[in-house]
Amino acid sequence: MSEIARRSEFPDTRGWIRALPTLTASAPPFAPAATPQETFLRWLTEAAEAGVAEPHAATLSTVDPSGTPDARMLLIKDVTDDGWWFSGDDRSPKGRQLDATPAAALTVYWRELGRQVRVRGPVLAGPAEVCARDFRERSVFARAVASTGHQSEVLTDSAEYDDLVRERLTALEHDPDLVSPHWTAWCVAAEAVEFWQADPGRRHLRYRYRRAGDRWVTEELHP
Ligand SMILES: Cc1cc2nc3c(=O)[nH]c(=O)nc-3n(C[C@H](O)[C@H](O)[C@H](O)COP(=O)(O)O)c2cc1C
Repeated sequence: MSEIARRSEFPDTRGWIRALPTLTASAPPFAPAATPQETFLRWLTEAAEAGVAEPHAATLSTVDPSGTPDARMLLIKDVTDDGWWFSGDDRSPKGRQLDATPAAALTVYWRELGRQVRVRGPVLAGPAEVCARDFRERSVFARAVASTGHQSEVLTDSAEYDDLVRERLTALEHDPDLVSPHWTAWCVAAEAVEFWQADPGRRHLRYRYRRAGDRWVTEELHP
């Protein structure tokens, strides 16, 4: 691992930040597959095998009704012919943003391999049985927390919130099949997927799949 510059050794913040190492990794050779899903799963496998922690974590970007972007980390739950799946509560800010503007971008960065993937496209809510399956696959505590609602609202009373979680846990112990009607599995039906691989000589490789009807057009992009 490269030496990390100590902040105390720099006269100002900018100097220290500018000295932090970037793109230090080297990636396995890039062999694009016929579809972006296949290529993504190949890269995800390589990231997992390289020991990347939470290699399925991604940034989900959405826009709010005023057009202001918003973004947060979440976990990719599945990759199918339909697209990239993630899940959450439809009452949350992201849920309301997706309801108003059903389009999103997912961004993944595997720094240990110097690789980035960008997925963009319309977002569709999955059928009820897919949402319910996703909810049931969560731990009982995660299900209890997800049932409380109010995600991202100001927390004014911690004790009240803890009581609500306990109440939801008790309800789930009595009926383990309980499913929150607000839990949603969404799918980014990708229109474009870009694979970016760092090169130490800055000849970064950029390879984009663009949907053209029922096939994928592939293009190399300027670094
Ligand atoms: C690594 C990681 C994984 C996360 N996974 C999820 C997830 O799968 N679903 C989810 O709703 N929030 C997840 N979160 C929490 C979100 O980042 C976010 O705080 C929450 O969804 C509220 O976002 P919103 O206010 O934009 O709706 C995760 C956070 C991190 C750091």
